[in-house]
Amino acid sequence: MSGSLAVGVFSDRVLAPSADLVDEEALDAALEALDFKGAFGNVVTIPLFGGYDRLYAVGLGVEVDAELLRQAAGSLGATAKGEVSTTLHLVDVEGALTSVAQGFALGAYQYNRYKTDDDQPAPVLSFAGDASADELAAAQTVVEQQLWARDLVNETPADQSPEALADRMVELAKELDVSVSIMGNAELEAGGFGGLVGVNAGSDREARMVELTYTPETYSKTLAIVGKGIVFDSGGLSLKPPAPMMAMKGDMAGAAAVLAAFRAIAELKLDVRVIAITPLTENMPSGSATRPGDVLTIRNGKTIEVLNTDAEGRLVLADALSLAVEREPDMIVDLATLTGHCHVALGDFFAGAFGRDEKAMAAVLAAGEQAGERLWRLPMPRDHRSMIDSDIADMKNTLTGTKYGGHIGAALLLAEFTGDVPWVHLDIAGPAWSTAVSGYIRKGGTGFGVRTIVELAKALSSGS
Ligand code: BES
Ligand code: MN
Ligand code: ZN
Repeated sequence: MSGSLAVGVFSDRVLAPSADLVDEEALDAALEALDFKGAFGNVVTIPLFGGYDRLYAVGLGVEVDAELLRQAAGSLGATAKGEVSTTLHLVDVEGALTSVAQGFALGAYQYNRYKTDDDQPAPVLSFAGDASADELAAAQTVVEQQLWARDLVNETPADQSPEALADRMVELAKELDVSVSIMGNAELEAGGFGGLVGVNAGSDREARMVELTYTPETYSKTLAIVGKGIVFDSGGLSLKPPAPMMAMKGDMAGAAAVLAAFRAIAELKLDVRVIAITPLTENMPSGSATRPGDVLTIRNGKTIEVLNTDAEGRLVLADALSLAVEREPDMIVDLATLTGHCHVALGDFFAGAFGRDEKAMAAVLAAGEQAGERLWRLPMPRDHRSMIDSDIADMKNTLTGTKYGGHIGAALLLAEFTGDVPWVHLDIAGPAWSTAVSGYIRKGGTGFGVRTIVELAKALSSGS
Protein backbone atom coordinates (compact mmCIF):
# COMPACT_ATOMS: atom_id res chain seq x y z
CA MET A 1 0.00 0.00 0.00
CA SER A 2 1.20 3.49 -0.62
CA GLY A 3 -0.09 6.87 0.43
CA SER A 4 -1.00 7.92 3.94
CA LEU A 5 -3.81 7.40 6.37
CA ALA A 6 -5.15 9.96 8.84
CA VAL A 7 -7.15 8.84 11.87
CA GLY A 8 -8.66 10.79 14.74
CA VAL A 9 -7.57 10.23 18.34
CA PHE A 10 -9.54 11.55 21.32
CA SER A 11 -8.00 12.29 24.73
CA ASP A 12 -6.35 9.36 26.51
CA ARG A 13 -5.70 7.83 23.10
CA VAL A 14 -9.30 6.78 22.46
CA LEU A 15 -9.36 6.08 18.73
CA ALA A 16 -12.09 7.69 16.63
CA PRO A 17 -13.99 5.32 14.30
CA SER A 18 -11.21 4.07 12.05
CA ALA A 19 -13.15 1.64 9.84
CA ASP A 20 -10.81 -1.18 10.84
CA LEU A 21 -8.02 0.13 8.65
CA VAL A 22 -5.32 -0.20 11.25
CA ASP A 23 -4.27 -2.58 13.97
CA GLU A 24 -5.60 -0.57 16.90
CA GLU A 25 -3.33 -2.17 19.49
CA ALA A 26 -0.22 -1.52 17.43
CA LEU A 27 -1.34 2.09 16.89
CA ASP A 28 -1.96 2.59 20.60
CA ALA A 29 1.52 1.28 21.37
CA ALA A 30 3.11 3.55 18.76
CA LEU A 31 1.23 6.59 20.05
CA GLU A 32 2.17 5.78 23.62
CA ALA A 33 5.83 5.54 22.62
CA LEU A 34 5.49 9.01 21.04
CA ASP A 35 3.77 10.30 24.19
CA PHE A 36 0.81 11.39 22.03
CA LYS A 37 -2.31 11.70 24.17
CA GLY A 38 -4.79 13.04 21.61
CA ALA A 39 -4.69 16.68 22.72
CA PHE A 40 -6.90 18.80 20.47
CA GLY A 41 -5.17 20.11 17.36
CA ASN A 42 -1.97 18.09 17.77
CA VAL A 43 -0.97 16.04 14.75
CA VAL A 44 1.73 13.40 14.90
CA THR A 45 3.25 11.59 11.91
CA ILE A 46 4.28 7.93 12.16
CA PRO A 47 6.28 6.80 9.13
CA LEU A 48 5.78 3.37 7.55
CA PHE A 49 2.90 2.21 9.68
CA GLY A 50 0.41 -0.57 8.88
CA GLY A 51 1.39 -0.67 5.24
CA TYR A 52 1.05 3.10 4.77
CA ASP A 53 3.87 5.48 3.94
CA ARG A 54 2.73 7.60 6.85
CA LEU A 55 0.05 7.50 9.46
CA TYR A 56 -1.21 10.81 10.79
CA ALA A 57 -2.83 10.78 14.22
CA VAL A 58 -5.04 13.83 14.60
CA GLY A 59 -5.75 14.92 18.18
CA LEU A 60 -9.46 15.57 18.83
CA GLY A 61 -9.32 16.31 22.57
CA VAL A 62 -12.22 15.35 24.84
CA GLU A 63 -15.06 16.10 22.43
CA VAL A 64 -15.49 17.80 19.06
CA ASP A 65 -18.31 19.62 17.32
CA ALA A 66 -18.47 20.41 13.60
CA GLU A 67 -16.28 23.51 13.91
CA LEU A 68 -13.65 21.87 16.15
CA LEU A 69 -13.48 18.99 13.69
CA ARG A 70 -12.95 21.54 10.90
CA GLN A 71 -10.07 23.03 12.87
CA ALA A 72 -8.51 19.62 13.58
CA ALA A 73 -8.76 18.76 9.87
CA GLY A 74 -7.05 22.11 9.22
CA SER A 75 -4.07 21.06 11.34
CA LEU A 76 -3.95 17.85 9.31
CA GLY A 77 -4.11 19.76 6.01
CA ALA A 78 -1.20 21.94 7.13
CA THR A 79 0.92 18.88 8.00
CA ALA A 80 -0.01 16.31 5.37
CA LYS A 81 1.88 15.57 2.17
CA GLY A 82 0.88 13.64 -0.94
CA GLU A 83 -2.20 11.46 -1.05
CA VAL A 84 -4.01 11.06 2.24
CA SER A 85 -6.93 8.80 2.98
CA THR A 86 -8.89 9.55 6.15
CA THR A 87 -11.55 8.21 8.49
CA LEU A 88 -11.96 11.52 10.34
CA HIS A 89 -15.34 12.10 8.66
CA LEU A 90 -16.72 9.04 10.47
CA VAL A 91 -16.58 10.90 13.79
CA ASP A 92 -20.12 11.12 15.16
CA VAL A 93 -20.83 14.78 14.46
CA GLU A 94 -23.49 16.22 12.14
CA GLY A 95 -21.81 17.49 8.96
CA ALA A 96 -18.51 15.75 9.77
CA LEU A 97 -17.73 15.18 6.09
CA THR A 98 -18.22 18.87 5.31
CA SER A 99 -16.04 19.88 8.24
CA VAL A 100 -13.19 17.55 7.34
CA ALA A 101 -13.21 18.38 3.62
CA GLN A 102 -13.31 22.12 4.28
CA GLY A 103 -10.86 22.18 7.17
CA PHE A 104 -8.31 20.13 5.25
CA ALA A 105 -8.46 22.38 2.18
CA LEU A 106 -8.24 25.55 4.29
CA GLY A 107 -5.32 24.18 6.32
CA ALA A 108 -3.43 23.10 3.19
CA TYR A 109 -3.88 26.53 1.58
CA GLN A 110 -0.77 28.35 0.43
CA TYR A 111 -0.54 31.66 -1.35
CA ASN A 112 2.33 31.27 -3.79
CA ARG A 113 1.60 33.85 -6.45
CA TYR A 114 4.66 35.93 -5.61
CA LYS A 115 7.01 33.04 -4.81
CA THR A 116 9.42 32.22 -7.62
CA ASP A 117 9.79 28.66 -6.30
CA ASP A 118 6.14 27.65 -6.14
CA ASP A 119 6.73 23.93 -6.55
CA GLN A 120 5.01 22.87 -3.34
CA PRO A 121 2.32 20.39 -4.38
CA ALA A 122 -0.85 20.49 -2.29
CA PRO A 123 -1.85 17.33 -0.42
CA VAL A 124 -4.90 15.47 -1.71
CA LEU A 125 -7.54 14.04 0.60
CA SER A 126 -9.79 11.06 0.03
CA PHE A 127 -12.31 9.41 2.33
CA ALA A 128 -12.18 5.82 3.55
CA GLY A 129 -15.63 4.43 4.28
CA ASP A 130 -19.03 6.00 3.57
CA ALA A 131 -18.98 9.57 2.24
CA SER A 132 -21.92 11.27 0.54
CA ALA A 133 -20.85 12.53 -2.88
CA ASP A 134 -23.49 15.29 -2.81
CA GLU A 135 -22.46 16.60 0.60
CA LEU A 136 -18.82 16.52 -0.44
CA ALA A 137 -19.45 18.41 -3.67
CA ALA A 138 -21.39 21.15 -1.86
CA ALA A 139 -18.73 21.44 0.85
CA GLN A 140 -16.06 21.78 -1.82
CA THR A 141 -17.95 24.42 -3.78
CA VAL A 142 -18.10 26.58 -0.66
CA VAL A 143 -14.53 26.01 0.48
CA GLU A 144 -13.15 26.72 -2.99
CA GLN A 145 -14.78 30.11 -2.81
CA GLN A 146 -13.44 30.71 0.69
CA LEU A 147 -9.97 29.98 -0.70
CA TRP A 148 -10.64 32.41 -3.55
CA ALA A 149 -11.63 35.07 -1.00
CA ARG A 150 -8.22 34.50 0.65
CA ASP A 151 -6.51 34.90 -2.71
CA LEU A 152 -8.30 38.19 -3.32
CA VAL A 153 -7.22 39.49 0.09
CA ASN A 154 -3.63 38.29 -0.24
CA GLU A 155 -3.13 39.79 -3.67
CA THR A 156 -1.06 42.99 -3.53
CA PRO A 157 -2.77 46.36 -3.87
CA ALA A 158 -0.50 47.25 -6.79
CA ASP A 159 -1.93 44.32 -8.76
CA GLN A 160 -5.46 44.85 -7.53
CA SER A 161 -6.75 48.20 -8.72
CA PRO A 162 -10.49 48.74 -8.33
CA GLU A 163 -10.70 48.78 -12.13
CA ALA A 164 -8.88 45.45 -12.52
CA LEU A 165 -11.00 43.81 -9.83
CA ALA A 166 -14.20 45.12 -11.38
CA ASP A 167 -13.10 43.85 -14.81
CA ARG A 168 -12.60 40.41 -13.32
CA MET A 169 -16.13 40.53 -11.93
CA VAL A 170 -17.46 41.23 -15.44
CA GLU A 171 -15.70 38.07 -16.61
CA LEU A 172 -17.04 36.17 -13.61
CA ALA A 173 -20.58 37.32 -14.37
CA LYS A 174 -20.27 35.84 -17.87
CA GLU A 175 -19.05 32.53 -16.46
CA LEU A 176 -21.85 32.39 -13.91
CA ASP A 177 -24.47 33.73 -16.32
CA VAL A 178 -25.58 36.42 -13.86
CA SER A 179 -26.12 40.13 -14.47
CA VAL A 180 -23.51 42.71 -13.58
CA SER A 181 -23.35 46.48 -13.53
CA ILE A 182 -20.22 48.52 -12.92
CA MET A 183 -20.05 52.24 -12.18
CA GLY A 184 -16.85 54.24 -12.66
CA ASN A 185 -16.08 57.75 -11.41
CA ALA A 186 -18.21 59.51 -14.03
CA GLU A 187 -21.34 57.51 -13.15
CA LEU A 188 -20.58 57.71 -9.44
CA GLU A 189 -20.30 61.50 -9.55
CA ALA A 190 -23.44 61.83 -11.66
CA GLY A 191 -25.29 59.44 -9.35
CA GLY A 192 -24.42 61.32 -6.18
CA PHE A 193 -22.20 58.67 -4.61
CA GLY A 194 -20.26 61.29 -2.65
CA GLY A 195 -18.87 58.86 -0.07
CA LEU A 196 -17.09 56.61 -2.55
CA VAL A 197 -16.01 59.54 -4.71
CA GLY A 198 -14.78 61.41 -1.63
CA VAL A 199 -12.65 58.51 -0.37
CA ASN A 200 -11.33 57.96 -3.88
CA ALA A 201 -10.32 61.61 -4.29
CA GLY A 202 -6.76 61.08 -3.05
CA SER A 203 -6.08 58.10 -5.30
CA ASP A 204 -4.55 58.05 -8.78
CA ARG A 205 -6.74 55.05 -9.58
CA GLU A 206 -10.48 55.30 -10.24
CA ALA A 207 -13.15 53.86 -7.97
CA ARG A 208 -15.69 51.23 -9.00
CA MET A 209 -19.08 50.21 -7.66
CA VAL A 210 -19.71 46.58 -8.55
CA GLU A 211 -23.22 45.13 -8.50
CA LEU A 212 -23.86 41.49 -9.33
CA THR A 213 -27.34 39.97 -9.36
CA TYR A 214 -28.15 36.28 -9.28
CA THR A 215 -31.79 35.52 -10.11
CA PRO A 216 -32.78 31.85 -9.89
CA GLU A 217 -35.82 30.49 -11.69
CA THR A 218 -37.82 30.22 -8.49
CA TYR A 219 -37.34 32.32 -5.39
CA SER A 220 -39.35 34.21 -2.83
CA LYS A 221 -36.66 36.22 -1.02
CA THR A 222 -34.04 38.73 -2.13
CA LEU A 223 -30.86 39.07 -0.09
CA ALA A 224 -28.50 42.00 -0.60
CA ILE A 225 -24.90 41.50 0.52
CA VAL A 226 -22.61 44.50 0.74
CA GLY A 227 -18.82 44.31 1.26
CA LYS A 228 -16.29 47.03 2.11
CA GLY A 229 -13.72 47.05 -0.68
CA ILE A 230 -10.85 49.33 0.28
CA VAL A 231 -8.07 47.70 -1.76
CA PHE A 232 -5.57 49.62 0.36
CA ASP A 233 -6.20 51.81 3.40
CA SER A 234 -3.34 54.20 4.10
CA GLY A 235 -5.67 56.30 6.24
CA GLY A 236 -5.61 59.13 3.70
CA LEU A 237 -4.52 62.53 5.05
CA SER A 238 -5.20 61.14 8.55
CA LEU A 239 -2.31 58.83 7.67
CA LYS A 240 -1.84 55.60 9.61
CA PRO A 241 1.51 54.88 11.31
CA PRO A 242 3.59 52.13 9.62
CA ALA A 243 2.62 49.17 11.82
CA PRO A 244 -1.18 49.40 11.45
CA MET A 245 -0.76 50.01 7.71
CA MET A 246 0.99 46.70 7.09
CA ALA A 247 -2.15 44.59 6.82
CA MET A 248 -4.24 47.20 5.01
CA LYS A 249 -4.25 45.41 1.67
CA GLY A 250 -6.75 43.28 3.59
CA ASP A 251 -9.22 46.15 3.93
CA MET A 252 -11.25 44.69 1.06
CA ALA A 253 -11.89 41.42 2.92
CA GLY A 254 -15.59 42.27 3.21
CA ALA A 255 -15.84 42.67 -0.56
CA ALA A 256 -13.85 39.46 -1.07
CA ALA A 257 -16.21 37.51 1.21
CA VAL A 258 -19.27 38.95 -0.53
CA LEU A 259 -17.99 38.18 -4.04
CA ALA A 260 -16.87 34.67 -3.08
CA ALA A 261 -20.12 33.86 -1.29
CA PHE A 262 -22.07 35.19 -4.26
CA ARG A 263 -20.12 32.84 -6.50
CA ALA A 264 -20.79 29.85 -4.25
CA ILE A 265 -24.52 30.67 -4.05
CA ALA A 266 -24.78 30.92 -7.85
CA GLU A 267 -22.82 27.68 -8.33
CA LEU A 268 -25.01 25.88 -5.81
CA LYS A 269 -28.05 27.31 -7.62
CA LEU A 270 -29.81 28.22 -4.37
CA ASP A 271 -33.41 29.41 -4.64
CA VAL A 272 -32.85 32.92 -3.39
CA ARG A 273 -32.20 36.08 -5.36
CA VAL A 274 -28.90 37.64 -4.31
CA ILE A 275 -27.52 41.09 -5.03
CA ALA A 276 -23.83 41.61 -4.23
CA ILE A 277 -22.64 45.20 -3.97
CA THR A 278 -19.00 46.15 -3.42
CA PRO A 279 -17.68 49.72 -3.39
CA LEU A 280 -14.02 49.52 -4.48
CA THR A 281 -11.33 52.18 -4.01
CA GLU A 282 -8.10 52.78 -2.22
CA ASN A 283 -7.74 55.41 0.51
CA MET A 284 -4.70 57.59 -0.25
CA PRO A 285 -3.30 60.98 0.75
CA SER A 286 -2.55 63.51 -1.97
CA GLY A 287 -3.17 67.11 -3.00
CA SER A 288 -6.61 66.11 -4.24
CA ALA A 289 -7.57 64.03 -1.20
CA THR A 290 -10.62 64.71 0.97
CA ARG A 291 -9.57 66.74 4.02
CA PRO A 292 -10.59 66.49 7.67
CA GLY A 293 -13.33 69.11 7.83
CA ASP A 294 -14.82 68.41 4.40
CA VAL A 295 -18.47 67.38 4.08
CA LEU A 296 -19.62 64.63 1.72
CA THR A 297 -23.16 64.08 0.42
CA ILE A 298 -24.14 60.43 0.23
CA ARG A 299 -26.37 58.77 -2.38
CA ASN A 300 -29.48 58.95 -0.14
CA GLY A 301 -29.01 62.70 0.32
CA LYS A 302 -27.63 62.72 3.86
CA THR A 303 -24.40 64.59 4.64
CA ILE A 304 -21.34 63.43 6.58
CA GLU A 305 -18.63 65.65 8.03
CA VAL A 306 -15.29 63.90 7.55
CA LEU A 307 -13.21 64.57 10.65
CA ASN A 308 -10.86 61.63 10.20
CA THR A 309 -10.13 60.40 6.68
CA ASP A 310 -9.12 57.03 8.15
CA ALA A 311 -12.76 56.36 9.02
CA GLU A 312 -13.36 55.78 5.30
CA GLY A 313 -15.13 52.43 5.33
CA ARG A 314 -18.39 53.88 6.62
CA LEU A 315 -18.28 56.54 3.87
CA VAL A 316 -18.14 54.07 1.01
CA LEU A 317 -20.59 51.73 2.75
CA ALA A 318 -23.07 54.60 3.22
CA ASP A 319 -23.31 54.85 -0.58
CA ALA A 320 -23.38 51.08 -1.08
CA LEU A 321 -26.10 50.55 1.55
CA SER A 322 -28.16 53.39 0.02
CA LEU A 323 -27.93 51.62 -3.33
CA ALA A 324 -28.87 48.28 -1.75
CA VAL A 325 -31.98 49.89 -0.20
CA GLU A 326 -33.05 51.14 -3.66
CA ARG A 327 -33.17 47.51 -4.81
CA GLU A 328 -35.84 46.78 -2.16
CA PRO A 329 -34.37 43.51 -0.83
CA ASP A 330 -35.88 41.54 2.06
CA MET A 331 -32.64 41.75 3.99
CA ILE A 332 -29.27 43.48 3.79
CA VAL A 333 -26.10 42.09 5.36
CA ASP A 334 -22.87 44.04 5.15
CA LEU A 335 -19.39 42.75 5.93
CA ALA A 336 -16.60 45.19 6.65
CA THR A 337 -13.15 45.38 8.22
CA LEU A 338 -14.56 48.52 9.76
CA THR A 339 -12.95 49.30 13.10
CA GLY A 340 -9.92 48.43 15.19
CA HIS A 341 -12.28 48.94 18.15
CA CYS A 342 -14.25 45.83 17.23
CA HIS A 343 -11.02 43.85 17.00
CA VAL A 344 -10.07 45.10 20.47
CA ALA A 345 -13.53 44.28 21.84
CA LEU A 346 -13.87 40.72 20.52
CA GLY A 347 -10.37 39.49 19.67
CA ASP A 348 -9.10 37.67 16.61
CA PHE A 349 -11.87 35.16 16.05
CA PHE A 350 -15.22 36.92 16.57
CA ALA A 351 -17.00 39.31 14.27
CA GLY A 352 -19.28 41.91 15.86
CA ALA A 353 -22.91 41.75 14.72
CA PHE A 354 -25.00 44.92 14.84
CA GLY A 355 -28.63 45.50 13.94
CA ARG A 356 -32.10 46.30 15.22
CA ASP A 357 -34.23 43.82 13.29
CA GLU A 358 -34.54 40.83 15.62
CA LYS A 359 -35.55 38.38 12.90
CA ALA A 360 -32.69 39.32 10.59
CA MET A 361 -30.26 39.25 13.51
CA ALA A 362 -31.46 35.79 14.58
CA ALA A 363 -31.12 34.50 11.00
CA VAL A 364 -27.56 35.81 10.67
CA LEU A 365 -26.46 34.50 14.07
CA ALA A 366 -27.95 31.08 13.24
CA ALA A 367 -26.13 31.08 9.90
CA GLY A 368 -22.84 31.84 11.66
CA GLU A 369 -23.46 29.00 14.09
CA GLN A 370 -24.21 26.60 11.24
CA ALA A 371 -21.12 27.76 9.33
CA GLY A 372 -18.74 27.53 12.28
CA GLU A 373 -17.91 31.24 12.11
CA ARG A 374 -18.04 33.11 15.42
CA LEU A 375 -20.38 36.08 15.57
CA TRP A 376 -21.21 38.10 18.68
CA ARG A 377 -23.99 40.63 18.91
CA LEU A 378 -22.99 44.10 20.07
CA PRO A 379 -25.26 47.03 20.99
CA MET A 380 -26.25 50.08 18.97
CA PRO A 381 -28.93 51.81 21.06
CA ARG A 382 -30.88 54.62 19.43
CA ASP A 383 -30.11 57.07 22.21
CA HIS A 384 -26.42 56.78 21.32
CA ARG A 385 -27.09 58.54 18.00
CA SER A 386 -25.72 61.71 19.62
CA MET A 387 -22.28 60.04 19.45
CA ILE A 388 -22.16 60.97 15.77
CA ASP A 389 -23.92 64.35 15.86
CA SER A 390 -21.99 66.89 13.78
CA ASP A 391 -21.81 70.63 14.36
CA ILE A 392 -22.29 71.39 10.66
CA ALA A 393 -23.63 68.28 8.87
CA ASP A 394 -26.14 65.46 9.46
CA MET A 395 -23.47 63.37 11.14
CA LYS A 396 -19.71 63.09 11.60
CA ASN A 397 -17.58 60.12 10.60
CA THR A 398 -15.65 59.73 13.84
CA LEU A 399 -16.23 60.25 17.52
CA THR A 400 -14.72 63.25 19.22
CA GLY A 401 -14.09 63.53 22.94
CA THR A 402 -13.71 59.79 23.56
CA LYS A 403 -11.48 57.00 22.35
CA TYR A 404 -13.99 54.30 23.22
CA GLY A 405 -16.90 52.65 21.42
CA GLY A 406 -15.79 53.46 17.89
CA HIS A 407 -17.33 50.25 16.56
CA ILE A 408 -20.72 51.32 17.94
CA GLY A 409 -20.41 54.79 16.44
CA ALA A 410 -19.58 53.27 13.07
CA ALA A 411 -22.62 50.98 13.19
CA LEU A 412 -24.85 53.91 14.18
CA LEU A 413 -23.65 55.81 11.13
CA LEU A 414 -24.30 52.86 8.78
CA ALA A 415 -27.82 52.55 10.20
CA GLU A 416 -28.61 55.99 8.73
CA PHE A 417 -28.36 54.49 5.24
CA THR A 418 -30.40 51.30 5.59
CA GLY A 419 -33.92 52.79 5.36
CA ASP A 420 -36.59 50.37 6.54
CA VAL A 421 -34.84 47.24 5.26
CA PRO A 422 -33.98 44.57 7.86
CA TRP A 423 -30.20 44.89 8.10
CA VAL A 424 -27.27 43.31 9.92
CA HIS A 425 -23.75 44.74 9.95
CA LEU A 426 -20.82 42.41 10.56
CA ASP A 427 -17.59 44.12 11.64
CA ILE A 428 -14.97 41.55 10.61
CA ALA A 429 -11.85 43.62 11.43
CA GLY A 430 -10.67 40.90 13.85
CA PRO A 431 -11.26 37.58 12.08
CA ALA A 432 -10.69 38.63 8.44
CA TRP A 433 -6.91 38.68 8.75
CA SER A 434 -4.44 36.55 10.69
CA THR A 435 -0.84 37.11 11.69
CA ALA A 436 -0.53 33.56 13.06
CA VAL A 437 -1.17 29.97 11.98
CA SER A 438 -3.74 27.91 13.91
CA GLY A 439 -6.17 25.13 12.96
CA TYR A 440 -7.30 25.92 9.43
CA ILE A 441 -6.19 29.55 9.65
CA ARG A 442 -3.12 30.53 7.62
CA LYS A 443 -1.31 33.88 7.75
CA GLY A 444 -2.98 36.65 5.77
CA GLY A 445 -6.59 36.62 4.57
CA THR A 446 -8.84 34.05 6.24
CA GLY A 447 -11.89 34.17 3.98
CA PHE A 448 -14.05 34.80 7.04
CA GLY A 449 -17.74 35.36 6.29
CA VAL A 450 -18.08 33.31 3.11
CA ARG A 451 -19.55 30.29 4.87
CA THR A 452 -21.94 32.39 6.96
CA ILE A 453 -23.39 34.19 3.93
CA VAL A 454 -23.87 30.89 2.10
CA GLU A 455 -25.68 29.42 5.12
CA LEU A 456 -27.86 32.52 5.34
CA ALA A 457 -28.71 32.22 1.64
CA LYS A 458 -29.61 28.55 2.17
CA ALA A 459 -31.92 29.51 5.03
CA LEU A 460 -33.62 32.12 2.80
CA SER A 461 -33.98 29.71 -0.12
CA SER A 462 -37.59 28.97 -1.04
CA GLY A 463 -36.85 25.26 -1.11
CA SER A 464 -35.99 25.19 2.60
N1 BES B 1 -9.65 49.53 7.99
C1 BES B 1 -9.64 50.17 9.25
C2 BES B 1 -10.07 49.26 10.39
C3 BES B 1 -9.19 48.08 10.67
C4 BES B 1 -8.24 48.14 11.65
C5 BES B 1 -9.38 46.88 10.01
C6 BES B 1 -7.45 47.05 11.93
C7 BES B 1 -8.60 45.78 10.29
C8 BES B 1 -7.64 45.87 11.26
C9 BES B 1 -10.60 51.36 9.24
O1 BES B 1 -10.72 52.01 8.03
C10 BES B 1 -10.03 52.35 10.20
O2 BES B 1 -9.00 52.88 9.94
N2 BES B 1 -10.75 52.55 11.31
C11 BES B 1 -10.33 53.45 12.31
C12 BES B 1 -11.51 54.33 12.60
C13 BES B 1 -11.16 55.55 13.40
C14 BES B 1 -10.31 56.50 12.61
C15 BES B 1 -12.46 56.22 13.79
C16 BES B 1 -9.94 52.65 13.54
O3 BES B 1 -10.56 51.63 13.80
O4 BES B 1 -9.01 53.05 14.21
MN1 MN C 1 -9.26 53.49 7.69
ZN1 ZN D 1 -10.43 50.87 6.37
